[in-house]
Amino acid sequence: MFPLRRNRRLRTNEAVRSLVRQHILSPKDFQAPIFVTEGKQKKEEIASMPGYYRFSLDLLAKEVKELWDLGIKSVLLFVKVEEHLKDNKGTEAVNADGLMQRAIKTVKNAVPEMLVMTDVALDPYSMYGHDGIIENGRVLNDESVQALAHMALSHAQAGADFVAPSDMMDGRILVMRETLETEGFINTGIMSYSAKFASAFYGPFRDALDSAPVDAKDIPKNKNSYQMDPANRDEAVKETLMDIEEGADIVMVKPGLCYLDIVRDIRNEVNVPVSVYQVSGEYAMIKAASERGWLDHDAVMMEQLTAIKRAGADFIATYFAKDAAKLIS
Ligand code: PBG
Repeated sequence: MFPLRRNRRLRTNEAVRSLVRQHILSPKDFQAPIFVTEGKQKKEEIASMPGYYRFSLDLLAKEVKELWDLGIKSVLLFVKVEEHLKDNKGTEAVNADGLMQRAIKTVKNAVPEMLVMTDVALDPYSMYGHDGIIENGRVLNDESVQALAHMALSHAQAGADFVAPSDMMDGRILVMRETLETEGFINTGIMSYSAKFASAFYGPFRDALDSAPVDAKDIPKNKNSYQMDPANRDEAVKETLMDIEEGADIVMVKPGLCYLDIVRDIRNEVNVPVSVYQVSGEYAMIKAASERGWLDHDAVMMEQLTAIKRAGADFIATYFAKDAAKLIS
């Protein structure tokens, strides 16, 4: 007798394996998050994100050119805002000459074809480290949405190709789309962080931008009243379908690895591009374990990125964009 099927035939050697391989990563699958800071000649390593940096504007151009040459065609911008510019309403977020607005122009000047997306949420601008405006211990929804729509418009005016709201307020996509349309920015896209979970994996990011919720009386200690409960599956699809109805061009699942069931659910339900954000904590785990020699850095990195793509991501926002692109090329 012999086995009914010998599946190993298709795994015999790399030639046949590559012939039947379903998912192959290329640099165009990656979007590079970029942290920007004030000052000159600054390239500051983030302690909890080894090998990842905050760049001052004068060093940003070189970094962006490097990404472009590696085949990475899109960046997602974040700014570290100076403490004295923070308030409850995110006033600085709409400063036409603010750090984000200058960063957008810097990237566009360096590489005009680079697709520039910008994070839209109040947290880097908020004295309380929340994504919206706080009143009486609560994050206000509709008032925050207005502020976020102004912020999105300001990014569009500075030259952003897409705005990427990461705040999880209700109804924000509709108001942003309306604002952009009314102001003539009909070609500015919206990539919505539509299924964004209240995750403990954002820790290193909050170190990078100094944007964690502050520990003070009447300030919510976490973002659980707006980001989704990691225990819930069905509402991720609901949130995403609503964002599409409200005008999102691209939707997102965040974080990556722990949420691949969600990625597949959404991939099966929607007909717009789905992005996945492999977040700072996921990056930190791989770096830390491989620094200790416990994991093979490159192998684990590629396995996770491949798994995210296999789950249904059209592209991946990842701090490994450069590492992975270099490895592939
Ligand atoms: C801002 C924002 C966060 C991330 C992206 N945009 C942090 C948060 O929601 O607290 C996290 C990204 C990462 O961890 O890499 N709202």
